[in-house]
Parts: sequence; structure tokens; C-alpha cells
Amino acid sequence: MTALPDKMRAIVASPGAPLRVEQIDRAVAGPGQVLIKIAYAGINRPDLIQRMGAYPPPKGAPETMGLECSGEIVALGPDVSHWKLGDKVCALLPGGGYADFAWADEGSCMAVPEGISLLEAAALPETVLTVWANVFERAALQPGEAFLVHGGASGIGTTAIQMAKAHGAKVFATAGGAEKAALCAKLGADVAIDYRAQSFADVVKADGGVDVILDMVGGAYVQQNLDCLKLDGRCVQIAFLQGPQVDLNLMALMLKRLTLTGSTLRARPVAEKARLARAVEAHVWPWVAKGLVRPVVDSVFDLEDAEVAQAKMQANSHAGKILLKVSG
Ligand SMILES: NC(=O)c1ccc[n+]([C@@H]2O[C@H](COP(=O)([O-])OP(=O)(O)OC[C@H]3O[C@@H](n4cnc5c(N)ncnc54)[C@H](OP(=O)(O)O)[C@@H]3O)[C@@H](O)[C@H]2O)c1
Repeated sequence: MTALPDKMRAIVASPGAPLRVEQIDRAVAGPGQVLIKIAYAGINRPDLIQRMGAYPPPKGAPETMGLECSGEIVALGPDVSHWKLGDKVCALLPGGGYADFAWADEGSCMAVPEGISLLEAAALPETVLTVWANVFERAALQPGEAFLVHGGASGIGTTAIQMAKAHGAKVFATAGGAEKAALCAKLGADVAIDYRAQSFADVVKADGGVDVILDMVGGAYVQQNLDCLKLDGRCVQIAFLQGPQVDLNLMALMLKRLTLTGSTLRARPVAEKARLARAVEAHVWPWVAKGLVRPVVDSVFDLEDAEVAQAKMQANSHAGKILLKVSG
């Protein structure tokens, strides 16, 4: 293996200025960490929030953006037992993915699933781990139950539709516009709702309601979600794109024995992320290998074009994942 450079390219953000490429000290793997030569990196909505200064990296994480990547392991820190040099992985990162190299905790790396390219693999960690943790663990979706995901054409939504279908659920998905709703239907949603043309709550209630909801919208959706849930229904919040402050009538919570919950992924301890990653390898990778779950890639930009890539996400003009090509 060739010697590693002392410096690497990384995308750097300053308030009010466009993203730019800079040479910074190369990432180094510490104890229990591996160093990944990044092939592709995923863009995630929290990156946009971090850039505005409202989502600071957790203690010990790189200051630069980037929550997931695919690539090759090129160095091992002390006490790494599971991986070897040359392994191809995709990984959840605490930050630092918009760069040539990033360190990852070894438990947060996952083998690239069978039949998946490094490009597609970069689209998997954030979406698959988030859907697994919230829909399958927190809300305990069961085969035969009805499931509703908002933002069905988002990175998270396209993944949630396919994973819920693979699990044997009936799937409802909402999206803004006929084209995005059509994508949800193509991915397997039994009922795809263009929320600009129809009230999602009317459609879902007319069909008897749902058992589980994955919501990233919040705001006025929260009351409508409670109204859409069946007896013993569960709603999981993973974001509040329309705001977290709501005026709620909670009567349904009591009368229908509902659960309203939520979680974040980034703040979880390393050991918890490792547990989730092993669960995903065991339960979700077989679905990926069978073609039941495939990453939906909207577009790929060169690392230098991170500014354009983020602007596309900000404009909501994408469907599925936006990726950065680093060395892939
Ligand atoms: N809690 C966690 O652990 C966790 C982990 C990962 C991601 N997340 C969150 O999950 C969300 C989805 O992530 P992603 O990477 O899949 O992002 P994404 O692809 O950008 O998806 C967000 C989607 O939300 C919809 N949207 C945006 N603004 C909206 C608004 N004001 N009202 C209603 N809908 C709106 C858009 O769909 P339409 O065009 O169809 O409206 C958009 O496609 C993000 O908010 C992210 O921060 C949470």
C-alpha cells in the first residue's frame, strides 16, 4: 500500500460564504478506529443545519461536515479487531465525510452489501440505520401492519418504503408533487399521496388508518398523525421540518393508547451505533442482496461542487440521495 499523504482535501464552511476546498491535516485513526480512503460521501440534511451553526458536531468529532461515506480501509488504529487493510466498507461517521480521508469507529463500519457498488453503498448508512432504529426498533413495525412515511421521496423516505415493504407491511407515503408520489409508488408504496393535491389524513383515515408513522415534518402534521393512527399506534419523529412547537389535542393519545416518540442517531454512543450496524447487516443486507431494498441515488457531484450539491438539497429538487464523488 502506498504511503498516506500528510494533508488531504476537505470541504470547509464559513458563515455566509460558499463552501470551499482546503488542504487540511489528514484524518488519523485513533484507538478502535479505522481510516477510510473515501470513494463517495453522502449529503444529509443535518449538514445544511450544521453549516448554519445550529447543529454543532458532538465532542471529539471532526469540525468538517459529512455523516457517511463508502471507501477502502487504509489504516487501522490500535485495538481494531474486525477489519483489515483493503476492506471495502460503508460507514456512519461522526463528521468529516466531505474529504479524501475520514476516521470511523470500527463498529460504525459495515461491509458493502453483496451486489452493491461503492457509489450506491455511500447512500446507505444514514438512511438504513435511521429507518431500522426508528421504524423497526422504536416503533416495532410488524408484518401485516399499515405504515405511513412522510417525505416519501427523500433519502430516508425511499429507504423506509422499501424496508417496510420487504418486511410485509402495507405502505402509505406522502410526497410533494405528482412526480415524487409516482416514485414512491414505483418503490412499492401501496398508497402514494401527493400532499399538495390531497389531504394525506383524509386518504389514510378513509383506508382505516395506520399502525406506525415515520415523520420528519412535525408542525401541523403532528395532530393529523395522531388522528391517522389506529388503536395502539406508534408515531416516531426524526425531524421537524415545519417546526417542533405545536398546539395539540392529546385526547386521541389516551383513547387510542398511542405512542408518540422520537430519536436521533448522531448523538448515540459508539457502542449503540455498533449494535445498530450489526442489526442492519443481519436483517437489512439480505434484503439488499435480494434486490428488495436498493439505494435511490438522485445525483452525484464532484467533491469540489459540494456547494451546488447542498443547494440542490436545500431546494428540495432531489428524490433519493445526493452524493459527492471523492475518489470513486
Ligand atoms: N433523527 C434522526 O436520527 C435522523 C437521521 C437522519 C435524518 N434525519 C432527518 O430526516 C429528514 C430526512 O432526511 P434526508 O436526508 O432523507 O433529507 P431529504 O432527502 O432532504 O428529505 C427531506 C424531505 O422533506 C420534505 N420537506 C422539506 N421541507 C419540508 C417542509 N417544510 N414541509 C414538509 N416537507 C418538507 C421534502 O420532500 P417533499 O419535496 O416531498 O416535500 C424533502 O425531500 C431530515 O430532516 C433529516 O434531518 C433524522
